[in-house]
Amino acid sequence: MIQAGTILVNGQGHLEIGGCDTVELAQRYGTPLYIMDEELLRKNCRRFRNALRQSYSHGQIIFAGKAFLVQAMARLVGEEGLGLDVVSGGELYTALKAGFPTERIFFHGNNKSVKELAEALDVDTGRIIVDSIMELEEIIALAKEKGKKASVLLRVRPGVEAHTHEYIQTGQEDSKFGFALGDEALEGVNLVLSAPDQLELAGFHCHIGSQIFQVDPFRLAAQTMLKFMALVREKTGFVVSQLNMGGGLGIRYRSSDAPPTIESFVSSLATAVTRAAKENDFPLPELLLEPGRSICGEAGITLYRVGVIKEVPGIRRYVSVDGGMMDNIRPALYGAEYEAVLANKADREGVRNVTVAGKACESGDIIINEVLLPEVEKDDLLAVFSTGAYCYSMASNYNRNPRPGVLFVRNGKARAAVRRETYEHLVALDM
Ligand code: LLP
Repeated sequence: MIQAGTILVNGQGHLEIGGCDTVELAQRYGTPLYIMDEELLRKNCRRFRNALRQSYSHGQIIFAGKAFLVQAMARLVGEEGLGLDVVSGGELYTALKAGFPTERIFFHGNNKSVKELAEALDVDTGRIIVDSIMELEEIIALAKEKGKKASVLLRVRPGVEAHTHEYIQTGQEDSKFGFALGDEALEGVNLVLSAPDQLELAGFHCHIGSQIFQVDPFRLAAQTMLKFMALVREKTGFVVSQLNMGGGLGIRYRSSDAPPTIESFVSSLATAVTRAAKENDFPLPELLLEPGRSICGEAGITLYRVGVIKEVPGIRRYVSVDGGMMDNIRPALYGAEYEAVLANKADREGVRNVTVAGKACESGDIIINEVLLPEVEKDDLLAVFSTGAYCYSMASNYNRNPRPGVLFVRNGKARAAVRRETYEHLVALDM
């Protein structure tokens, strides 16, 4: 069991989150169901902000919306004073619908469409993180047309390899993201500086990967970035004022996982940036961080109802639940591992290992390969931990399964942040 936030086992032996009994939540809202611990979401936002304030002179925490973005989340993040990283017109639209302050929005993406760039310019998003020369040319043309000026950060690849799954590694040399450090990035800088009426060069961005437990790759990236910022100053005379180090801090999916705390991560990074600035005799840049998973990952659980239980003699016992790869693609995509308990028997000892399977028509639809559970019976409730990031946001309607709803729970109260889809939603766009 991942002991995160307000999760506990109550007097009835049921799993509780946000002061709500999950057995009651399942009865009232149905399953599968995503449940988010609002207290923990807010606490993580504050921990990031306080840690940055305490270890660095000036900076900003920007929530990476790709991890989990719905209007309720955008509002929460806005209330907690964070910025918001959006990566598509759809995420931007969600943020705007939620009333998120546009000056705190950062627009990302390696292949933004002209339409998306126009949308970003129209609403004056705080900054656009530019990924390529082609995109720069497009923004300049659009800004001319619209009589707008955009503040940009150039995303570069610092050539740092983080120890994580290769699909979620992004900072290395061979990557679709960003400018190659060196000539390509310098060409980008010169292009920005050549269009002072349309563009303002705020600074640089890098993101080395996700679900990272080591601080060293971040330190290395910070050194590389400051060295490059000093090079830009030397070659162009321009001194940028911002450094965005991306996201990437890992969380606990298994009890044995031991990521750095938010505080130690932020302070190590702040120290690394401060040191690297000094080494390069560069003025301390504003430090921007873009955590996604580490803000919302452990705050979420998914609640499933157990259906068919099948024994493959001498091999394994399959426990099938009413969701699967459509609400959590991560085991199938990354080999991600999760822990779970029976929410209605959370006080009972585990008696045997089982395999938790989903209901999709795929042999690979396995949520957990091996988990020790009490004797499982049909209609038991299974709670999978740490599903607050990259589960709802990556969910699909595979096999025409309606997507689950999302509940926010806090102080014994539950509120629906997203309604459960119905069959009507599934056919709503069919012609
Ligand atoms: N900033 C940028 C530019 C990013 O590309 C990402 C994540 C983040 C921030 C947030 O990173 P985080 O703090 O969440 O690690 N779907 C994968 C993760 C993909 C991450 C993509 N970029 C997963 O489920 O593990």
